Amino acid sequence: MNPLLSRLQPYPFERLRQLHADITPNPAYSPISLGIGEPRHATPQLVKDALTDSLAGLASYPATAGEPRLRQAMGHWLERRYGLTLDPATQILPVNGSREALFSLAQTVLDASQPGATVVCPNPFYQIYEGAALLAGAQAWFAPSDPARNFGVDWAAVPEAVWAKTQLVFVCSPGNPTGAVMSLAEWELLFKLSDQYGFVIASDECYSEIYFREEPPLGGLQAADQLGRHDFKNLISLTSLSKRSNVPGLRSGFVAGDAALIKPFLLYRTYHGSAMSPVVQAASIAAWNDEQHVVDNRALYREKFAKVTPLLAEVMDVALPDAGFYLWAAIPDVFQGSDTAFSRELLALYNVVVLPGSYLARDARGFNPGAGRIRMALVAETAECVEAAQRIVHFIQSKVH
Ligand SMILES: Cc1ncc(COP(=O)(O)O)c(C=O)c1O
Repeated sequence: MNPLLSRLQPYPFERLRQLHADITPNPAYSPISLGIGEPRHATPQLVKDALTDSLAGLASYPATAGEPRLRQAMGHWLERRYGLTLDPATQILPVNGSREALFSLAQTVLDASQPGATVVCPNPFYQIYEGAALLAGAQAWFAPSDPARNFGVDWAAVPEAVWAKTQLVFVCSPGNPTGAVMSLAEWELLFKLSDQYGFVIASDECYSEIYFREEPPLGGLQAADQLGRHDFKNLISLTSLSKRSNVPGLRSGFVAGDAALIKPFLLYRTYHGSAMSPVVQAASIAAWNDEQHVVDNRALYREKFAKVTPLLAEVMDVALPDAGFYLWAAIPDVFQGSDTAFSRELLALYNVVVLPGSYLARDARGFNPGAGRIRMALVAETAECVEAAQRIVHFIQSKVH
């Protein structure tokens, strides 16, 4: 067996299942889960139609690079969304969702034969980053997100000795779970460090289309372009349809950026066997070419967050994020920082599932930046999310008074 498998950590939802295993939720309440961040709004009809209209595609093997039409649709979207012109032949590649691409990109760019090969990850973070680093034979170094800076990652806090061994940095903007969007100044710092130390930046942008400010989140490629880095040197951004178009089961996204990275990535993917089904390609073209369903989807999240956030803000430290579909809240002092106790009691008394923040982060240099926080995924319908928020308010009030 691959000995590196034993270095993988249990997934947060596995830990959550164990945490809740002995609890019988209060049967007076219907179950509501704010645990898993799986989109639950309706899949657009145009995507379903494109899928059923293209079943003939099942009869042929797809090319790993995807059909030119698909890469062109992705390129047109980049142009509309970010004002960027990329070459679909050399700078864009379809992937089967951003999860597999985050993983396989790490396998492509990391060189574990170098002593101390390091991947810098945000903390808290999406657990695939760590698994991708470990299975490539590298180690992860966790850079804390800073509540004092709207949960932005403090890249300047990473020691020089760590940067010197760093081959890959994962950026998550908008962040899961924090919702933080990286600013141009933060990108500038990271690009400067990348130039100095030679590491690759993988920018995970799968929540980019769900945002609450007027201005859409700045993308990594857009930041590079604004800073005169027109070749996107050492930068790959990862974009997904899962959240944008409510198709997590389609498994469709793309990577774009530095052609010098896309080329070896395509080679790796050819052997890895990760070509996108022709049927999925057809549905993806329809999804990337339509923006109205994305506007409607965003409006649903905006309405939901506008109703739920003020309710919760009465009893806990929580604010509307920049983007994403999570609330990242600090639990009140009465729980003495135990996000796991909060999650257990809330389920037992009110039948609501929330994810302990400490499960999304690692202890690093003496503290876990997720401890004392919970993540709430507002993916259910508005009425259900409001109901969950009201129960959480009662729960906290009953503890405090
Ligand atoms: C931060 C982050 N990145 C990537 C993914 C993977 O999304 P997909 O593989 O559906 O594109 C998720 C899914 O929840 C996520 O939260």
